[in-house]
Amino acid sequence: MKGNPGLAVVGAGVIGLAIAWKASAAGCRVTVFDPAPARGASWVAGGMLAPVTEAWPGDEPVLELGEESLRRWPAFAADLAREGFDPGLSLNGTVVAAFDHADAEQLGTLAEYLRELGREATFVSGRALRREEPGLSASVRAGLLVPGDLAVDNRKLLGALIDATRANGGTFVTEPVSELTSSRVRAAGGERAFDAVVLAAGAWSGGLSAALAGRVRPLKGEILRMRTRRGALPPPSRTVRAFVEGRPVYLVPRAGGELVLGATQYEAGFDTAVTARGVRELLEGAERIFPGIAEYELVETAAAPRAASADNLPYLGELTDGVFAATGHHRNGLLLAPVTADAVLAWLGGESPPKGTAAADPLRGSATDTTHREKV
Ligand code: GLY
Repeated sequence: MKGNPGLAVVGAGVIGLAIAWKASAAGCRVTVFDPAPARGASWVAGGMLAPVTEAWPGDEPVLELGEESLRRWPAFAADLAREGFDPGLSLNGTVVAAFDHADAEQLGTLAEYLRELGREATFVSGRALRREEPGLSASVRAGLLVPGDLAVDNRKLLGALIDATRANGGTFVTEPVSELTSSRVRAAGGERAFDAVVLAAGAWSGGLSAALAGRVRPLKGEILRMRTRRGALPPPSRTVRAFVEGRPVYLVPRAGGELVLGATQYEAGFDTAVTARGVRELLEGAERIFPGIAEYELVETAAAPRAASADNLPYLGELTDGVFAATGHHRNGLLLAPVTADAVLAWLGGESPPKGTAAADPLRGSATDTTHREKV
C-alpha cells in the first residue's frame, strides 16, 4: 500500500492488536474495533509459544506455521521493547512430564515423531526431569526437554500492543461491529470507509463473514491463576506441560511468583462460566505433577472461547476485495501473532507472505474454494 492508508482491524485480541501495532508502526492510519479490547481468549491464555510440544502427527502444516512464527518472536518482542513496551518474553524453554505408564507411552510417541522430524526434544527419565525442575512429583515417570518452546506474559503483551498502537497514532472504537462490506465497517456509530479491513474477531468472525460462517467455532477454555505464598515452593522455572492419566495440563510461570494453569477444552458455544468440573480437573492434574501448588493462593479463574477451525490451521488471506481474514488461530493465537501480522503487512504491500501461510488460505474447504475443489 502506498501513502498513508486507512486500515480497519476488527477485533482487539492478540492477533488484531499485533496487526494494529505493526501496521501503525509502518505508517498506516489504524482504527481498531472491539467492544472489549484484550478481554477475550488472549486474556485467558497461558502464553505458551510452543509449536514443538503442541505438535502431533497429521498436523504438520500447523507445526510449520508455528515454527515460522516462533522464529519471528524474538525480533517481534525486541521491536516492541525498543518502542518502550516490554511484552515479557521468557526464553527459559519448556518441559513435558508424563504421569503414569500410559502417559509415558504417549510422550514416547511424541518424542519419536519429533526425532523423525529432526526437532530438538530430548526424552528423559522422571528422575532426570526432576533434576531440571525439582518441584515435580516423584511419581512423574518420564519427560521431554524442549528448550526452544518459549512463553510470553499474555497480559503484559496485550497491554504493550495497545500502548504501542496508540503511541503510533492508532485509535480504538469500542462499538460492536455489525457488518463488513467491501472495505467498509458498520458499527453502532455508523458506517466508515477504509482502504482495507482485517477481520480478526476470533470466535465471532463467522458472524461477520459469509465465507467463514460455520467454519470458525468457539472452543471453550478455562484457566486458573495461582500465586506462591511464603513457605510454599516457588513455581517451576519454565513451562511445564503434562499428560496426567491421558489428560493434558500446563503450568506456565510468570515473573513475581504467579503461575497460570490451563486449560480445559470443551465444545460449549460461547459459554464463559467457569465450572466446578473445570477447576477440579485443572487443580487435580496440576497438583499430581507439581504437588507444591496445594499451598498456593488461587487468585483467579477465567474462561473464554478460542477460535477453532476444522483443521487447526487459521484462516489467513483475502476473503473479498479489500477484506482480509486473520482469524481461527485455535490454540495458537499468542504463538502465531508475529507471523500473522507480517502476513497482513505483506498482503497490503503486495509482497510475498511468510512461509507456511499459503496452507492457511481462508477459502480452503469453503463453497467458493475452486482451487481446492479441483484438487480432490
Ligand atoms: N495454547 C494452549 C491452549 O489454548 O490451551
